[in-house]
Amino acid sequence: MNKLECIKLSKSFMVNNETLNVLSNVNIQINESEKVAISGKSGAGKSTLLHIMAGLDMPSSGIVTYNNSNFLNISLNSLSKIRLLNFGFVYQFHHLLDDLTIEENISIPAMLNGSYNKNTKNKIHKLMKKLNIHDRKNHLPWKLSGGEKQRAAIARALTNNPKFLFLDEPTGNLDIDNASIIQDILIDISDNYGVALITATHDNEFIKAFNKVFELSNAKLNELK
Ligand SMILES: Nc1ncnc2c1ncn2[C@@H]1O[C@H](COP(=O)(O)OP(=O)(O)OP(=O)(O)O)[C@@H](O)[C@H]1O
Ligand SMILES: [Mg+2]
Repeated sequence: MNKLECIKLSKSFMVNNETLNVLSNVNIQINESEKVAISGKSGAGKSTLLHIMAGLDMPSSGIVTYNNSNFLNISLNSLSKIRLLNFGFVYQFHHLLDDLTIEENISIPAMLNGSYNKNTKNKIHKLMKKLNIHDRKNHLPWKLSGGEKQRAAIARALTNNPKFLFLDEPTGNLDIDNASIIQDILIDISDNYGVALITATHDNEFIKAFNKVFELSNAKLNELK
């Protein structure tokens, strides 16, 4: 069973010569196939916590481990490998590369880990069909709607069959209908393929679908469900 664990995590930033404590003594453990929601007001530290859990940023103090690897003790190369082989990340604002087509964007993780071949290409086509963006595969991102871009970002995060999928407000910029389409797809992927979802969201409807719900407030993480 794959497991991600954060022990006594703290994170602070220096802003105008003052220390801003964003996370203070945060503990959380996430097992494979769990669905975990992180809620909290704007500025509460949701993105900061997701970035640290996914190994994209380091805590000021505390420990993050994936199985037996402590992110603070391993080389950057080993950390990159853990991320590439186990994690997918969907950013708050999709982060698709503007001068690559949708299919090329989605293929990047497989190209980076050297697994891109005919089978992967077929798999990526299936993924694009599932996420209903296959007919836009040759377009550049700017031609797509917000919902289509977000679905492309989700497809890209799923290319390497991640065991843990981090989503930073994946439906925050979408209307109710498009948000609900994407939320159903994410829950379906987690339930059918055992992918853990770690999602920052303040959408109360979406939150109902999660096994565990946490709230960040005053730099502390409290379990609500
Ligand atoms: N690199 C940084 N340097 C300085 N301050 C930062 C940095 N990153 C985040 N912050 C600050 O830390 C706090 C938490 O930011 P974060 O983006 O994690 O909040 P959030 O809960 O994701 O908010 P939102 O719901 O608006 O996305 C904010 O006050 C933010 O300005
Ligand atoms: Mg955020």
